Amino acid sequence: MRRPIIAGNWKLNKTIPEAIELVNGLKRNLYKIENVDTIVCPPFTALSSIAEIILSSNIKLGAQDLFWEEKGAFTGEVSGPMLKDAGCSFVIIGHSERRQYFAETNETVNKKLKAALKAGLTPIVCVGEKLAERESGKTFDVVKDHVVSGFKEIGDADARKCIIAYEPVWAIGTGKTATPEQAQEVHEFIRNLFSKLYSSQTASLIRIQYGGSVTPENIAALMAKPDLDGALVGGASLKPDSFSELIKKTSEVKAK
Ligand code: 13P
Repeated sequence: MRRPIIAGNWKLNKTIPEAIELVNGLKRNLYKIENVDTIVCPPFTALSSIAEIILSSNIKLGAQDLFWEEKGAFTGEVSGPMLKDAGCSFVIIGHSERRQYFAETNETVNKKLKAALKAGLTPIVCVGEKLAERESGKTFDVVKDHVVSGFKEIGDADARKCIIAYEPVWAIGTGKTATPEQAQEVHEFIRNLFSKLYSSQTASLIRIQYGGSVTPENIAALMAKPDLDGALVGGASLKPDSFSELIKKTSEVKAK
């Protein structure tokens, strides 16, 4: 059985003191949860402070992006080894906001994916269609392209280490969640795609998160679907109570 995984993508939010307060709240609320992997992805500036706080907890640390080179003259960038050094074990790659505002492409996603794996980080690879693409019936084509191009030259053993986050762009920050049925349909498609690209065993092992306006109110119905293995959460991950509630509900649904 796949272990559920809920990650909080804090995006461009939280000073160091605010980040510490949030994580201390999560630690208090979540110390009893044993069947869900909980990840927080603060901004780069707060990573090492949070790494120290979560040492004695069941919370793990992720970054929101990385650069593919390890070091050199690349002003403003942060590499995989640097993230490891700061205490990260996960890294988000190819988020739609990176694709939209920072010109990320499937090619840069592929380079970053290779760099993350080389550094020993677990990549959370984001895929998902825009509203116009969904409305014109291109959802599966876009998702397939994101997966196939993103995973170019990635071997079976490495593919198994990755997490996929299906985040329909029209559902991000809009309050308009995909229905559990819409999400399940795409998750199943992604799992079948991994079966074709790799093997049925890899497909059955790989964890696929849903992201896009996930809240404590809608998480249970989403997590009840068989191919939804967790969530990548933006807004609702910024408060200890709402993020903890999401994780507790996931723990209950997935324990059944
Ligand atoms: P929201 O949960 O705020 O819609 O953001 C989703 C997201 O982009 C997570 O990466």
